[in-house]
Order: sequence, then structure tokens, then C-alpha cells
Amino acid sequence: MAKQRDNWGSRLGIILAVAGSAIGLGNFLRFPAKAASNGGGAFIIPYLIAFFFLGIPLMWIEWTLGRYGGGFGHGTAPGIFHNIWRKNRFIKYFGVIGIFGPLVIFIYYTFIESWLLGYSFFALSGKYTAITDQTVMQNFLRGYQGVQNNEFFNGPGWAYVFFLVTFVLNVGVIYYGIKGGIERLCKLAMPLLCVCGIILLIRVLTLGTPDPAKPDWNINNGFGFLWNPDFSALKSAKVWLEATGQIFFTLSLGIGVILTYASYLKKGDDVVLSGLTAASTNEMAEIILGGSIVIPAAFVFFGPVAIESIAKSGTFNLGFVTMPLVLNKLPWAQAFAFIWFFLLFLAGITSSVSLAQPAVAFLEDEFDISRRKAVAIFGAATFLLCQPGIFFLKNGVVDELDFWGGTVFLVIFGTIEVILFAWVFGMNNAWDEIHKGADMRIPRAYKFIIKYITPLFLFIILGAWFLQEWIPVIAMRNVSAADRPYVLGTRIGLLALFSGIAALVKIAWRKKENRRQCRQESARSN
Ligand code: PFF
Repeated sequence: MAKQRDNWGSRLGIILAVAGSAIGLGNFLRFPAKAASNGGGAFIIPYLIAFFFLGIPLMWIEWTLGRYGGGFGHGTAPGIFHNIWRKNRFIKYFGVIGIFGPLVIFIYYTFIESWLLGYSFFALSGKYTAITDQTVMQNFLRGYQGVQNNEFFNGPGWAYVFFLVTFVLNVGVIYYGIKGGIERLCKLAMPLLCVCGIILLIRVLTLGTPDPAKPDWNINNGFGFLWNPDFSALKSAKVWLEATGQIFFTLSLGIGVILTYASYLKKGDDVVLSGLTAASTNEMAEIILGGSIVIPAAFVFFGPVAIESIAKSGTFNLGFVTMPLVLNKLPWAQAFAFIWFFLLFLAGITSSVSLAQPAVAFLEDEFDISRRKAVAIFGAATFLLCQPGIFFLKNGVVDELDFWGGTVFLVIFGTIEVILFAWVFGMNNAWDEIHKGADMRIPRAYKFIIKYITPLFLFIILGAWFLQEWIPVIAMRNVSAADRPYVLGTRIGLLALFSGIAALVKIAWRKKENRRQCRQESARSN
């Protein structure tokens, strides 16, 4: 029926690739920032509840649906959803999110990833090693981004060069395919990432009390600041939403990338143990490495008062301002800064290639074109799509892309997946399908959880999110009048992109229908 699809070379390969997608900036920057400002150690309670009732079930669902779809020659959500619910003509259009979402994240994620490459380079050249002041380091970042001309940078030239390199690397990896590109990259990058993480972890753990005049500014108190629980935070709905959002984002769930990765499995390949292993690897990297580096280290050098505002200063500030300042105070500053940014770059590239794959798989599978052609189309289209994020960064374009691609659509798509799997495909079928080739049995309680608890959890979260946080963002309440045209422009662009992909789905299905009719007619006339 379908042409021969690419596949994974080994089981370790797909586990590392899924873990590579999951382990990203979210683990090292987003997680510690969220935990510190949402109850510290208490944040772990809603976080783990979301992990067990949403994260793990969705991980299994995406692996299973992906492998199932791959069996029909479909690697993306339109085809997979269509196969699950053939009677419904519209369900394939819900699957558009599984191509659109990753594409939207890809177009800003690669740009941010390229800053990491730039900062790795400037760490070695020593361009920011002498900076010891927060404002100056902030200016360095703003100069690099091209938001401000200053003594460090004149325009976004350097940022653009590193963007081009990063973009070409990503497209290059995709070009070599699943086994030859993505798997090879992850087998190299993931162990390297692990080594960089452990080096930084040991460095932070051995910080002690660098300034004897300030005995409280020590590493034990740094861990205490992040991990001492404030249980009163659990009364706030926001803390629960943040924890759930983090689970989606960090595990790369509800977006379509794991669906696509799993579509390259073979029919009898295990998904239960592999999915669980990939998810657990991400959690180790997140809680142990992510939870031990930035915030405890910043505490030691900035003290208990300043850390409060540092923890709330956002992901970018933590990564690109606070952390280089901390490292600059240590011996071997250049080497450690390089290790930090290179670690993040590796974490970034193993995530961004996963974001690129669904669009490429869609073109290959549904239009029957070669990978070379699909990658060329993908490269040309995303290159253009990346430009607004680069040049209008200061006008809120990236934030807007992140809001839709990185938050709203994840939860909506995750909800659709669970409903399709547990209710349309049917829980008994689903249970059999998950366990095909499985190396372990899932505890039976999960049959109940996947059918009732996970969807209920998602509906509650969706409703609460919409009312509490999304309405103000959609109404642009926090956007300045000057930036509104940019934000509106971004929305119109996103709508056009979504409609474009939906149109491609329609064309692909019409073509297939025509081909089927032709075959039937020629069979009849014979
Ligand atoms: N999981 C990645 C992180 O934690 O940084 C981000 C991400 C990658 C989200 C791929 C979604 C995705 F499809």
C-alpha cells in the first residue's frame, strides 16, 4: 500500500530521541523558575500529580497512536485521527494542530537555540567574561538580540549569523532522516549533554560558602530556597495550572511530535516500557539537574533577598543574564560558561529537530514525495516564517507564538487525543493496542485513569485556564498600544498558516479519493 517509510535503527535510538525532544530549555530554565515562584518544594505535589495522571497516560497514548498510524503509512495526526474515526469527515482537520503546533514552536525555538550557540562561542572568546553587573549583562543580551545598539553589538548581525548556522544544522539533520539524522544526533548529543550537566551539578554542589562575610549565602540555603515547601501555595489554582503546563511542555506532549516519532516504530515494538523510560529520563534531568543548577547557584552569589526577584525574572533572564554572571565569579569562568551554553544548545537542537519532523513527515506521507523534496519545501517555508520572530522580537511576536503554540494548542490537542483513544477507539481496543509487543504490563488502574481521570483533569484545566489566564491574553490586556499591530499581525499569520495546512490536508485527501475511485473503475472495466 504505502511506500517504504523510514524507521529507527534501535530501541535505544527512539528512547534517546524522545528523551532528546523532552529534555530542553524547559528542564534547565523553565522548571526551576516555575518551581521557585510557585511554592518551592510544594510545587512538586501538583507537578507529580500531573505527571502520573496526565503525563504518563498521554505519553503512552501518543506512542501507541503513533505506532498505529505508522502501520497505515501515516506519521501525522490528520491521517492517524482519520484512521481512528473513519466515519467522521472533520476529525482530520483537528489533526492539523499536530503539524501546525510544532511548526509554530519551531519558528521561535530555533532562533532562541541559536542564541545559545552564539553565547557558547562568545564564552570561549571571552566577550562577556569581564561583565559582573546585572544591567550590563542585560545590555549584552539586548545588544546581541538587536533590540539595542551598545558597546557590545551594533545591530542583530551576529545573532543572524548564528541563526543561519543553527537553522542549517537543523535542516541538515532532518535531511538525513530518522535513522541517519535524528537518531545519530541524539546518540551523540544526549550522552554529551549528560556529561555537561553532571560537571555543572558537581560545580554547584561544591560552591560551599564563597564569601565568609556572608555565611548565610551558602549552597545548602540555596537548595533550601528552591525546595523548602510552601504548602499554602497549593490553594492557588494558578500553581496547579503552571504545574500542568510544565508537564505538557517538558514532556513534549500534546503537540504531535511524539506521535510522529512513534510512527517510525515497527508493529511489534514495545511502547509501554520505552515510553516510560523516556519520560523518566526527562524527569531525572528536570528535577535533579534542572532543580540543582540555576537557582541554588544564583542564591549563593546574589543572596536571599535578590533571589526572590531573580527567580521571577523569567526564563531568559535566568539563562542569559543570571547564570553567566554566576559563572563569571568562578575560576575557569570561560570554560564553565561554555559548558552551560553548550549544554543548553544540545538540549535545544535535540528538541527542535523533533519539532521539524511532523511537517516533513506530513509532506512525505500524504503527498508521496521524497524526503529530499519534503525537506526542501520545509526549509524554504520555515526560513521565511522565522523572520518576523527575529526582527520583531521586541514587539512581542515570540511571546504571542509561544502563547498559542506552546500553551493553548497543547492542551486542546492533548484532550482530543485522549477522547479519541479512550472513547472513540474504545478503551478495550486501546488497552490491547498499547500492550502489543509490550515488555511490561501497565497497572490495571490506568485503564480507569485513561478513560475517566485524564479527560476530566484536562477539561477542568482547560476551563480554568481559559477563564483565568487566556481571556486577558486574548484581549491583549497587557500589550502596549504600539505593539498591538504586531500581535494582531502574528495572529493573522497564524490563522493563515493553520488554514494553509488545513487546505493541504483537503487536497491530499481529495487526491487519494480520486486515486481510489480510478482504481475501482479500472477494476470494474476489467
Ligand atoms: N520539551 C522541550 C523542553 O522542555 O524544552 C520543549 C518542546 C520540544 C516542547 C518539543 C514541545 C515539543 F514538541
